[in-house]
Amino acid sequence: MGKSVILHLVFVVLAVFSVCLVNAEDPYLFFTWTVTYGTRSILGVPQQVILINDQFPGPGLDVVTNNNIILNLINKLDQPFLLTWNGVKQRKNSWQDGVLGTNCPIPPNSNYTYKFQAKDQIGSYNYFPSTLMHRAAGGFGALNIIHRSVIPIPYANPDGDFTLLVGDWFKTNHKIMQQSLDAGNPLPFPDGVLINGQTQSTFTGDQGKTYMFRISNVGLSTSLNFRIQGHKMKLVEVGGSHVIQNLYDYLDIHVGQSVTILVTLDQPPKDYYIVASTRFTETVLTATGVLHYSNSNALVSGPIPAAPVNQFDWSMEQARTYRWNLTSNAARHNPQGSFHYGQITPTKTFVLANSASSINGKLRYAVNGVSYINPDTPLNLADHFNIPGDFSTNSISAVPSGRAATVATSVMPTSLHDLIEVVFQNNENTIQAWHLDGYDFWVAGFGSGQWSPDSRKSYNLVDALTRHYSGLSKFLDRSFRLLGQPRYVECEVYIVGQAISRTTILPESLESSPQPC
Ligand SMILES: *[C@@H]1O[C@H](CO)[C@@H](O)[C@H](O)[C@H]1NC(C)=O
Ligand SMILES: *[C@@H]1O[C@H](CO)[C@@H](O)[C@H](O)[C@H]1NC(C)=O
Repeated sequence: MGKSVILHLVFVVLAVFSVCLVNAEDPYLFFTWTVTYGTRSILGVPQQVILINDQFPGPGLDVVTNNNIILNLINKLDQPFLLTWNGVKQRKNSWQDGVLGTNCPIPPNSNYTYKFQAKDQIGSYNYFPSTLMHRAAGGFGALNIIHRSVIPIPYANPDGDFTLLVGDWFKTNHKIMQQSLDAGNPLPFPDGVLINGQTQSTFTGDQGKTYMFRISNVGLSTSLNFRIQGHKMKLVEVGGSHVIQNLYDYLDIHVGQSVTILVTLDQPPKDYYIVASTRFTETVLTATGVLHYSNSNALVSGPIPAAPVNQFDWSMEQARTYRWNLTSNAARHNPQGSFHYGQITPTKTFVLANSASSINGKLRYAVNGVSYINPDTPLNLADHFNIPGDFSTNSISAVPSGRAATVATSVMPTSLHDLIEVVFQNNENTIQAWHLDGYDFWVAGFGSGQWSPDSRKSYNLVDALTRHYSGLSKFLDRSFRLLGQPRYVECEVYIVGQAISRTTILPESLESSPQPC
């Protein structure tokens, strides 16, 4: 299995208690985004990148909780294109999720208008292209949901707000990279790490003041360690959950993940390194930026602060310190009417074991022995419009099957209001990052070895974070346990272009208006 697998759990849920998509009382924001190719010398050589309104990375989407977003996306590429709003819950509105299970890609020279509401959410998120290898060329950006003025947040308003998109970067053209993956090669090792699409960036603040840094890993395959020379980072929010506010010297940020930290400029007035370096890689790639005190009297100096030596265990221990602040506004009721997820008995358990094997001469990734293939019609639409033959709900088992991998459009059935326990069992020797598109889960537990019902004894059933992203299914024999209440889950294992495998948990009924392709 290649070094750079992204396991992508696309999870679209239509929550029960929320009102419909566009709420008339809340403000509307209108955007027109045009997607084109452009040429940028990012690592010293000109390369083709994907621009949105001539920007690389794409424009930041700064909205306020409950704002209605009407965004017309005009695709001027020579390939179909689709953006997904990573972490936006799309309640009753999975039609706007922007993944292949819910939307048709926008054909070249066409447009599609996304309509969604940032309902009840606060936090730092990001958006990215969800198909082909477009994410390797750009098209991603920040999506910041700022709290409404009447809603208290568990920290003082910062004196300033910086957004940092960090990620690995490749010089190879995205189409060539795709051809190579299609030919069975693993994703190459990245050529560099970028902060906001650059190798050099400076963030200026005043001594004594406190700044918010919203950091997202927008890369393709590599976890990053983030740190600021001489400064502590107070973690306040992870993936939309306000957390117990601990101080950290370093933070591991996995592909797709966003975190929000507060940093007080409490050091002597000079410049300090901001560092993002690759984790769990033999060769370490490092990007540095500068935290510049406005009254600085010295350039950055001294060694670049090092990442922690310890790798996976350290990272898992760090993730265990992220705990939900149950008295802050992060704790939202779930569709069962409670945020006490630990007191609800799960309706079903899915154990999803990923594997890599050769099927018909091609390297493909599978979940429970099924390597997912996209049907012609997005699953959600096929279900809604009763298009027969698109998928079958008995082509995948709820637990690992042990049989040789086959290809199918696999769908797992479940019902509205179910609380589902999902176990990701990673038997590969690579990191698997799962992204839950359109909804989130409580990450109840994770650890080494094979999961068994006994593992439930170690679950955090009190203050685990809800996350749309689970980055820690690390290395050999690690497993993950999540609890969530899906109506619609797709999980796709995609080594971006090389092979796709996906499991879909189908909704029982649908409540908003789909747009047929
Ligand atoms: C969007 O597409 C529609 C046709 O589906 C077309 O009528 C309209 O002019 C397009 N708008 C833009 C801004 O390209
Ligand atoms: C949790 O949130 C509450 C309410 O905003 C706040 O007063 C408290 O300090 C927070 N607790 C921690 C440990 O961060």
